[in-house]
Amino acid sequence: MIERIPEPELMDDFEQARAYALADFEEPHTQFIELFRQHFPEEVVNGVVLDIGCGTGDITKRFAYAYPACRIHAVDGAEQMLMFARQTVDFEMLHERVRLFQRTLPTDSLAKEKYDVLICNSLLHHLAEPQVLWDTVKQFAKEGAAVFVMDLMRCESTKQAAAMVREYAANEPEVLQRDFYNSLLAAFTPAEVEAQLAEAGLSHLTVEVVSDRHLIVSGRC
Ligand SMILES: C[S@@+](CC[C@H](N)C(=O)[O-])C[C@H]1O[C@@H](n2cnc3c(N)ncnc32)[C@H](O)[C@@H]1O
Repeated sequence: MIERIPEPELMDDFEQARAYALADFEEPHTQFIELFRQHFPEEVVNGVVLDIGCGTGDITKRFAYAYPACRIHAVDGAEQMLMFARQTVDFEMLHERVRLFQRTLPTDSLAKEKYDVLICNSLLHHLAEPQVLWDTVKQFAKEGAAVFVMDLMRCESTKQAAAMVREYAANEPEVLQRDFYNSLLAAFTPAEVEAQLAEAGLSHLTVEVVSDRHLIVSGRC
């Protein structure tokens, strides 16, 4: 297994953000919502959801449609990504339900002290210090809150990462292919995520491999 090669945390370059906003994430982002439903089939989701590292807001939008009774606070540190997220909220007319916040984690200041549901897609592999995510979860989750995190898993070799890019991003612009390749080398292995959760005192959350490149962490706080 190749050593982790971290990538920059924030995606604050305009071309990078634009490529991300235009990319086809239909399959993994649909899977995110379906897996949330499968893991929390009884969840009513009528409170306030925290979307951690919301980027351009595609998961935020999908979650808002999947659970029409909830409100969402979506946070990201990158203004360039949030610019596209604002367009998504405008276009989808979600102003009354979705609020966007520019925050770089770790932060003490979110709009609410505690959230009913916490979701996070593809942030963990960006973090230099992964405990930043688990600390955020502990700090802002209500007791019993549903927690659902999905992320990439690290490839075993640069050759495998290049093959994944050819398989899943061949039609995407070069900037997105480069980011995907770097992310596949920056991501954590399931065993590393288990160790992070143990260190955070969150061992009751479950780590599962759900595709050839994704893992999820789910459970209640
Ligand atoms: C790969 S994108 C995922 C965006 C979105 N969740 C999605 O699935 O489309 C990762 C996002 O995490 C943000 N990010 C990375 N490190 C962060 C930090 N320390 N604080 C806040 N946002 C961060 C980046 O700016 C970027 O928008």
